[in-house]
Amino acid sequence: MRNVAVVGIGQTKFGEHWDRSLRDLIFEAGMSAIKDSGLEKEQIQGLYVGNMSAGRFAGQEHLGALAADVLGLRVPASRFEAACASGSVAFRNACTSVACGMEDVALVVGAEKMTDVSTPAAVLSLAAAGDQEWEAACGLTFAGAYALIARRHMHDFGTTKEQLGMVAVENHKNAVGNPYAQFPFAITLQDVLEAGMIADPLGLMDCSPLTDGAAGVIITSEDIAKKMNPVWVAGSGQGADSLALHGRKSITEMDATRQAAKTAFEKSGLRKEDIGALEVHDCFTINEIVGIEDLGFCKKGQGGRFVEDGKISKDGEIPINMSGGLKACGHPVGATGIRQIVDIARQLRGSARNQVNGIEHGLTLNIGGSGATAVVNILSRELKK
Ligand code: COA
Repeated sequence: MRNVAVVGIGQTKFGEHWDRSLRDLIFEAGMSAIKDSGLEKEQIQGLYVGNMSAGRFAGQEHLGALAADVLGLRVPASRFEAACASGSVAFRNACTSVACGMEDVALVVGAEKMTDVSTPAAVLSLAAAGDQEWEAACGLTFAGAYALIARRHMHDFGTTKEQLGMVAVENHKNAVGNPYAQFPFAITLQDVLEAGMIADPLGLMDCSPLTDGAAGVIITSEDIAKKMNPVWVAGSGQGADSLALHGRKSITEMDATRQAAKTAFEKSGLRKEDIGALEVHDCFTINEIVGIEDLGFCKKGQGGRFVEDGKISKDGEIPINMSGGLKACGHPVGATGIRQIVDIARQLRGSARNQVNGIEHGLTLNIGGSGATAVVNILSRELKK
């Protein structure tokens, strides 16, 4: 297999784009990634689109064709769906194609337009990423599923509502000044604790919002990338678990994350000590805590304490979500996995707004649903010899 690199990055601002269509967002993200790479559109040989639910959110299916049309590309174009991990799954498939020599240059765009429907309709669409028969049909929303995980984590390990809140406070702090973030402002722990309840114990400030947005990356083979400004894909892993929570041996662990991390670390030949920053899926605050634990950055059950002790801050043990995460950047579900890669690439290029000094390797964790799919990507500044 050939080495693969990210050579172009781009995104739209995340937020409520009531004046723009899904088509507009895909165009902006795709074109900005192409422009950033310096390659010509004619050099692109494959188009990969990450999207969860355009049919329900925007009345549009056939996303590969839509993206190819609006971007003026006449190349194989397909959509990849894995709930909130759709973007990362599209990215992995593009990397595989380039690595095995099917294509030399591929464009990946993740996109979602969530605010053209009412909140109840959006919540119902998102619930379809869980188990329809066993969960959604019984009224379990996504906030509800993560509330069950949070309650169990609190019961088993003594995690507190304050520790959950600190995840949101940290992520909002990191988003201040981020021109692409939906909520680029700081909040206090009191704001989190006093916010309206969504699904006990998760209040409004424990939740990522409903968001419109798109992000794109250009991937090339090593020989092309070497002449450009590459960020290398050192390792990538994808894991699977039961769709419904009741099928898991424990709901406070995400086995899919562990599998994905194991594969990505093995492929990269790196250890967790080599990683300089993480972008972790914090669709709800509890998920960042569970993610830190399952990636192996602290022991199971210690995630809340890890956050409280300041270990996820820029000057802490492992800087997490320097972008603002899903909580403050916003979470256009199909775009999030690509946005995470864009933000780690900015860190590795040394051009991030909230730059971590001396970073050589970064990692993204993108979760689909309540953990039935997880994708871990490890990106590096230099190609490992
Ligand atoms: N965090 C902070 N503020 C939020 C917010 C969030 N998650 N969601 C909405 N707001 C703000 C809005 O900006 C708005 O502020 P304003 O009055 O100053 O303009 C206010 O709260 C009301 O917004 P509204 O759009 O009416 O909220 P809502 O009640 O329709 O939606 C949720 C709130 C929590 C139901 C919605 O954000 C949600 O479903 N989030 C979870 C999404 C999800 O499940 N994603 C998939 C994860 S796997």
